Amino acid sequence: MTLQQTGSPHQFPTGSDAFPHRHLLGIAGLQPWEILFLLEEAKQWVDLNKKSSKHADRLDGLTVINAFFENSTRTLLSFEIAGKRMGADVVNMHAAQSSIKKGETLIDTAVTLNAMKADAIVIRHGSSGAVQLIADKVDCPVLNAGDGSHEHPTQALLDALTIQRRKGDISGLTVTICGDVMHSRVARSNIYCLTTLGAKVRVCGPPSLLPAALDRFNVEIFTNFDEALAGSDVVMMLRLQNERMNGDFIPSPREYHYLYGLTRERLALAKDDALVMHPGPMNRGVEIDSDVADDLNHSAITEQVEMGVAVRMACLDILTRKSRGVEGWS
Ligand code: NCD
Repeated sequence: MTLQQTGSPHQFPTGSDAFPHRHLLGIAGLQPWEILFLLEEAKQWVDLNKKSSKHADRLDGLTVINAFFENSTRTLLSFEIAGKRMGADVVNMHAAQSSIKKGETLIDTAVTLNAMKADAIVIRHGSSGAVQLIADKVDCPVLNAGDGSHEHPTQALLDALTIQRRKGDISGLTVTICGDVMHSRVARSNIYCLTTLGAKVRVCGPPSLLPAALDRFNVEIFTNFDEALAGSDVVMMLRLQNERMNGDFIPSPREYHYLYGLTRERLALAKDDALVMHPGPMNRGVEIDSDVADDLNHSAITEQVEMGVAVRMACLDILTRKSRGVEGWS
């Protein structure tokens, strides 16, 4: 089924045909209408989140476990708030306090989490593929909150929702993703998401931080940031993921900023109304200057955080519809 066959982007297949997946492990392989369905569903939660009383009872009585084996501030908080706003009992498991430190295998941890009868498990892990491994061992839906440098699907969805709200249709937009693409799960998930939705994606960074496999993706590759910026509708900056680097990938942060830092002068090379995005945490003065990050005429960085909660609420809702016996989701 193509997007055209489903009619307008707002007409989706009904029931579980709209999103026929047990887990959300990545964006790769999702159909355009499945992504658009998740974004459409998120919009009701954007509205709820603006109210003074933010409670919905959709996940009443359900248990959501956030199992984070890697540090996180905004993603963990965002999933926790999302689950709580939907009425679920949310439990956070931090790796530093878990039996992983005592040598338990990932599969034993998965079996333990499963025995506690979670209704959804959200996992962040430092190894690519670890989330899939756990998903194969548990009975409930698993949401990937970032696995190594592989995927971070809810980040790409919240980015897409932010772009949609600011720019309308994503199809046809030119989006430049710049920085440490090699180690970035955010870049990978965004490339899948944005190209699936019909955006022209430019990927830019020093040759040492661009993976060789990039030419298999439907993207234009740049090593000169000024050239990549010309005519861009959206500029998405990435942090240098020092924690995933073995050895030195750049001469120095200063040199990096000189060549790849988003300054006000550089931003002027993009379209006049270009949107600036960053998944956070930002290294101000390295990949992005403060006056650009804080310029509300361009920067959507805080809106990204806001959209994150709504997108995660939608994902938790949709993935638990089957177990909640929602009509059409058997
Ligand atoms: C990103 C991540 O953890 O992959 N952050 C996030 O989820 N908001 C990007 C990063 O750490 O640089």
